[in-house]
Amino acid sequence: MGALTGKTALVTGGSRGIGRAVALRLAADGALVAVHYGENAEAAAETVALIEKAGGQAFDVRARFGTAGAVDALFERLADGLGGRGLDVLVNNAGIASTHSIADVTEEEWERLLAVNVTTPFFVIRSALPLLNDGGRIVNMGSTASRFAVSTQIGYTVTKAALESLAPSLANELGRRSITVNTVAPGAVRTDLTADYTSIPEVVAGLEAITALGRLGQPEDVADVVGFLAGPQGRWVTGQTIDVSGGTWLGPIAAG
Ligand SMILES: NC(=O)c1ccc[n+]([C@@H]2O[C@H](COP(=O)([O-])OP(=O)(O)OC[C@H]3O[C@@H](n4cnc5c(N)ncnc54)[C@H](OP(=O)(O)O)[C@@H]3O)[C@@H](O)[C@H]2O)c1
Repeated sequence: MGALTGKTALVTGGSRGIGRAVALRLAADGALVAVHYGENAEAAAETVALIEKAGGQAFDVRARFGTAGAVDALFERLADGLGGRGLDVLVNNAGIASTHSIADVTEEEWERLLAVNVTTPFFVIRSALPLLNDGGRIVNMGSTASRFAVSTQIGYTVTKAALESLAPSLANELGRRSITVNTVAPGAVRTDLTADYTSIPEVVAGLEAITALGRLGQPEDVADVVGFLAGPQGRWVTGQTIDVSGGTWLGPIAAG
């Protein structure tokens, strides 16, 4: 029996990257997982197939965040898939990046970043509350970007800092129901989102040079921490941001 046997989970952006690894991990722990996606139905189906091949249970749910009615559509389809069961684990993982300095961030890009990375998770949580079982878990996907300066990601940084700010207040509100709310803040992880710079050896070398563990992350490095928070062992951790970056930018690293 797994740590999440008999439980249910929704992973937004579960079709690819970190979200896929999270969906696989929660399913391996026994949860029935709703694999949400925005456009890439093939990738979502592949995540579901990988889960089923490993003996787990999952279904996919489409909703294009940032478009009208997306959250309502998500919860309608989720309710069908859960078949009357409540929700035990909500992972707000879907997100988009920006690689512009302030002078190049248009109002349109800014609105889109806020819509997908902040407004949608906020209202996903609001819609999930009536479904969430006592003892449930909410994990929001932040970023180390909110901890140190990356001027070419300024719009993204603001959205991740805003998302991170939800956990303490929600943790206080939901704690008496034994529901925990935390933020997981990954450093640079190899996914489609980061392929533009993780494919450049000089950039990778620069990132490794400021990371205590000396390497970039893999989606599973993050998924295992989400799995811990989602399971019974994470029961006494709430309102926190957990940095999952291999110790990126902790301070100077001695040469040698
Ligand atoms: N990779 C990193 O280095 C890193 C570091 C720190 C934080 N993060 C955060 O971790 C999360 C996942 O990142 P990732 O690297 O795994 O990204 P990714 O590989 O680009 O995957 C993004 C996921 O989000 C979904 N998504 C994107 N925009 C959407 C929209 N408008 N509506 C619905 N779904 C949408 C995608 O669905 P489709 O497949 O349908 O497009 C996909 O499942 C993000 O919140 C990101 O900010 C990533």
